[in-house]
Amino acid sequence: MCGIFWYKGAQHSAERVLLHGLERLEYRGYDSAGMVVVEADGTAQARKSVGAVTNLSTKVEHERKWLTDRAYAYGIAHTRRATHGGVTEQNCHPHWSNNGKVYIVHNGIIENYLKLKKMLESKWYTFYSETDTEVISNLIQHYYEGNFLEAIERTIRELRGAYAILVIHQDHPDEIIGARLGSPLLLAYNDAGDFYFSSDAQALSGYAEKIVYLEEGDIVHIKSHDFLITSWGKPTLRPVEELNQQELAVSKWDYKHFMLKEIYEQPNIVRRIYKGRANFVDYKLTADAFHGMQEERYQDMIFVACGTSYHAGLLASYRMEELVGLSTRVEVASEYENKPIRVRDNLLHIFISQSGETADSIECLKLIKEQDGQTFGVVNVPGSTIARLTDNGLFTRAWTEIGVASTKAFTAQSVCLMLTALFMAKKRGLRYAVYKDIMHELEQLPMLMETILDQSDYIRSVAQQLTEYQHCFYLGRHYQLPIAHEAALKLKEISYIHAQAYPAGELKHGTLALIDEQTPSILLMPHDLMFEKNMSTLQEIKARNGKVLVISDKKVPGADRQIMIPESIPEVYPLLTNIAAQLLAYHVADLLNRNIDKPRNLAKSVTVK
Ligand code: BG6
Repeated sequence: MCGIFWYKGAQHSAERVLLHGLERLEYRGYDSAGMVVVEADGTAQARKSVGAVTNLSTKVEHERKWLTDRAYAYGIAHTRRATHGGVTEQNCHPHWSNNGKVYIVHNGIIENYLKLKKMLESKWYTFYSETDTEVISNLIQHYYEGNFLEAIERTIRELRGAYAILVIHQDHPDEIIGARLGSPLLLAYNDAGDFYFSSDAQALSGYAEKIVYLEEGDIVHIKSHDFLITSWGKPTLRPVEELNQQELAVSKWDYKHFMLKEIYEQPNIVRRIYKGRANFVDYKLTADAFHGMQEERYQDMIFVACGTSYHAGLLASYRMEELVGLSTRVEVASEYENKPIRVRDNLLHIFISQSGETADSIECLKLIKEQDGQTFGVVNVPGSTIARLTDNGLFTRAWTEIGVASTKAFTAQSVCLMLTALFMAKKRGLRYAVYKDIMHELEQLPMLMETILDQSDYIRSVAQQLTEYQHCFYLGRHYQLPIAHEAALKLKEISYIHAQAYPAGELKHGTLALIDEQTPSILLMPHDLMFEKNMSTLQEIKARNGKVLVISDKKVPGADRQIMIPESIPEVYPLLTNIAAQLLAYHVADLLNRNIDKPRNLAKSVTVK
């Protein structure tokens, strides 16, 4: 997944805004970046660089003249996560056509680019890069007969796959065309006459005031200060929304990394999630989403998600089975789309996604909607594709999440799904005493989280020991197994230590063979109904000289190291052990000097399949 951006206006230097836009989109892909700026006289100047956006800024800075404000200079820019072709300057975007007139930036994957390339080569087109995107620029040149929009429409008809593209043509200095299918793209502007295209809204905070979310198959043709949107070739109108600046503003404050700031934001995010939804005076749950979901009709629930969101689905499935009595399945979206997907009247598909733009999840959602299946979204980004395609849902109110390794979004998803399960369980006769106990403990949750965050320095000392190992196991039972999976993923994502999550009770059936002094185990064992069973697992490991780090609210004899969490109840413990595991992963990665906010090979959400 990549980030694409366009700016045209009188207020700012085009380079300055494009670089700022790229800096804010960098969490989407950060192996190389580029931009092309067109002067009022139509001359275009492209700049590309491998590595972070700062490398490109340095290159542009070098050309000091570039930074002077020049009315109506405009440009397109791109930050890349390589899909086709290595991380080289050649493969950086923007790409241009053989005649040097068409410039393009692209987020997505063109699946039939080799076939198109062959066709163009047979017409003497040559190619300097290994990318699918350069093929699009030459296809536009191939179809261009003086009408810019027509050339784009004819090109798009040939493309198979996913794309959000921004295209400029030197013979049309006052025009730009943006189009999307599969990958997100939005148009934005302000009253001062500045225009923007961006892969997401977050990059526009402080610049644009109005935003237009583009739909699948939309093409936007901007000429001077007017724009025309066509949908599958037919002129159409799209709603114009106000940009919520406060929601979008992101800064690290004085935290070393966005991830650490996002870990510390969690208590307040939980309080935000409760607003207008959970009343702890009369213990009522009152969210429109709850009332709109016709919960009484569902007997089965299937959670569909990827990465960390999948683990939130795993945890929610335990709650829906335990508290609501539903039968549930949790599906990894990239695998679920390979299965025969069936819908039934009493089956609800729940889509969990921080970004709301993960292509694998969207693919499943479309397959279910084609069959009129019931869908519910748990999404963080308003206006995102999954938020707009699901029938009903809850926003997780976690503000913008920048750290590529998701933290606060997991907690927010888990709390929203916990409230949903409680609402359904109460409707289905959950004993009021049990319901009230859980609600009471949920009210304490932000404060309980803060007591764990206060131990950050101690957890860093535990992390120091973990930096000595290449492999480790995360073990858990019942509600703690999804947390073991999430904790192992966090450690892998940012420290590059190979961590494997495992059902603690399954260890003895094979994997125990891997336990030795070099492979420590992290046992999530709060004082819940599983405590005794976990004690026997601890002894099993110790008997094989394995090292055991325990996360629990009780002092555990035999543990080599222990991280304490506050006392609570089984339903709430997972939200506490998770915080301790997040901080542990963060400190291990920081002690190993990893690029925590932008770990290698990853991206914030993958908008290509
Ligand atoms: C990956 C991110 O690309 O996508 C993970 O690195 C994330 O952090 C996963 O959990 C799923 O993304 P989303 O936005 O659908 O929750």
